Amino acid sequence: MSSTASQPTGARQVPVARDTPLTPDSWKTATVYQIYPRSFLDSNGDGIGDLTGMTSKVPYLAELGIDAVWLSPFYPSALADGGYDVDDYRNVAPNIGTMDEFDALVAALHSAGIGVIVDIVPNHSGSGHAWFVEALAAEPGSPARDRYVFRDGRGDAGELPPNDWPGHFGPSCWTRVPDGQWYMHLFAPEQPDFNWDNAEVREDFKTTLRFWADHGVDGFRVDAAHAVAKDLNAPPPPLFSLHMHELPEDGSHPVLDRDSVHEIYREWQKVFAEYDPPLVAVAEAVAPISRRGAYVESLGQVFSFELIEATWDPAWFRRSIEATMALSERSGGVPTWALTNHDCLRAASKYGLPQGADVNAWLMSGGIEPREDRVRGAARARAATLLMLSLPGTAYIYQGEELGLFEVADLPTDQLQDPLWKRSGHVIKGRDGCRVPLPWTSNGPTFGFTTGTPHLPMPEWFTTVSEEHEEADPASTLALHRSALAMRRDLQSGISIELAPDAADTVVHVVRDNGWHSVTNFGDETVELPRGELLLTSGPLAGGKLPPDTTAWVKAT
Ligand code: NOJ
Ligand code: CA
Repeated sequence: MSSTASQPTGARQVPVARDTPLTPDSWKTATVYQIYPRSFLDSNGDGIGDLTGMTSKVPYLAELGIDAVWLSPFYPSALADGGYDVDDYRNVAPNIGTMDEFDALVAALHSAGIGVIVDIVPNHSGSGHAWFVEALAAEPGSPARDRYVFRDGRGDAGELPPNDWPGHFGPSCWTRVPDGQWYMHLFAPEQPDFNWDNAEVREDFKTTLRFWADHGVDGFRVDAAHAVAKDLNAPPPPLFSLHMHELPEDGSHPVLDRDSVHEIYREWQKVFAEYDPPLVAVAEAVAPISRRGAYVESLGQVFSFELIEATWDPAWFRRSIEATMALSERSGGVPTWALTNHDCLRAASKYGLPQGADVNAWLMSGGIEPREDRVRGAARARAATLLMLSLPGTAYIYQGEELGLFEVADLPTDQLQDPLWKRSGHVIKGRDGCRVPLPWTSNGPTFGFTTGTPHLPMPEWFTTVSEEHEEADPASTLALHRSALAMRRDLQSGISIELAPDAADTVVHVVRDNGWHSVTNFGDETVELPRGELLLTSGPLAGGKLPPDTTAWVKAT
């Protein structure tokens, strides 16, 4: 092999020095705030959140006390899946901004001490991507088709899909093109899967990583990291499923969580190391927890879904914490925590619904049946936040969580954007209810988000959860986040915890090795707190005791 062939295009021999507040070390204790760009703040009245809107809120983010933002996709996209259908990986969507505005945002965040992580979507592009357009115009078997996963169909005339595997958003992961071939899409048809055995695909993503690093980003959230490496000839398991809890634990699934996925990310690590400090990454790997440590080794961090799945149940929280801690010990990484993200129900609604409620049925009823207990839900979300923020490692907060937003359960179905709605034949309402634009002021109908029409309608009750409303209330969920995040920075030490035993199983009591205690009461009776200095509570105490649905932080003396 010639020396030019072994030297990938653009690789740096000498690390590129970067001036940034976010290093691989500070990342280990960071609180990361996820921004869903189109719903954050609109600066020009087109109803779509944008980069200029984000830049204008850097002081808000700094005051909140976060260490980094993670930007969900802001790239050119036909929005078949909220921007996770990327048509151009090295640009900004025109209605979100320009590259200059991106640079300005990064500069403003960095000078406020906030790092920047961007979403990278390697499993699939959007169907408007130049390579997919080229692939459709090209012959079967051509190099252009080889960048994606094209196959002939089954049946006499190839009229059946290559196999009967489902997709995440519908009954089949295959779509036929006019010349008769089929292409694979694990998600929507507008999200064709890349062929990662193709050298051009591998090289192009490294170019994209360097592109964003050169524009100042500190790292990446890797979308569907588990799905990238595929072997369509591998024998499918007896139950072919795409669901995390049904995946084989030996990496034998033909398209998900194969061991070879890590070869790709080890190559990415080399790109990360072309910078000083190196870039960081967190994998969204929908894999059995027993196999998720491998993503820590190959990418640096992996999301834990355990707390996201937990309902208001102390045993479930305890199990989730123990499993996540064990994962970090096995992998040598730090634990990661999240209560929600843009793919799931808002925390305050999750904890306010009756145990075992069918969330989709609730959404389909417009949030009427069963009844959501908002008082309890809000109190529990505050308590869960303090519990999560007391844990060692990296914590992820999704925009609006700091305001205690509830799910917008009554979005009119003709306004839904999530492909799940259409692809499920209108039986799954989907994820739009947590993606409604943020309320900044208390004045409806657009609450300071836009002077135009927001891309999803905003409910009247936003008036009592707006930033403006909460700024005026020292007991607000926003104020609680500010206090908790400031203390969390000062209180960090070590990554080991103990969960104090609780015979009644109504309390989750975290003990950090510096004497920081976090006690959460899931029961119906008040409980005693450990002796020491009371640092913070998620709600008022009752006669010095911890009431139900409340967390207290105590520094033992
Ligand atoms: C995971 C993302 O979080 C989700 O929003 C998206 O639909 C899928 N990956 C496909 O990119
Ligand atoms: Ca806008």
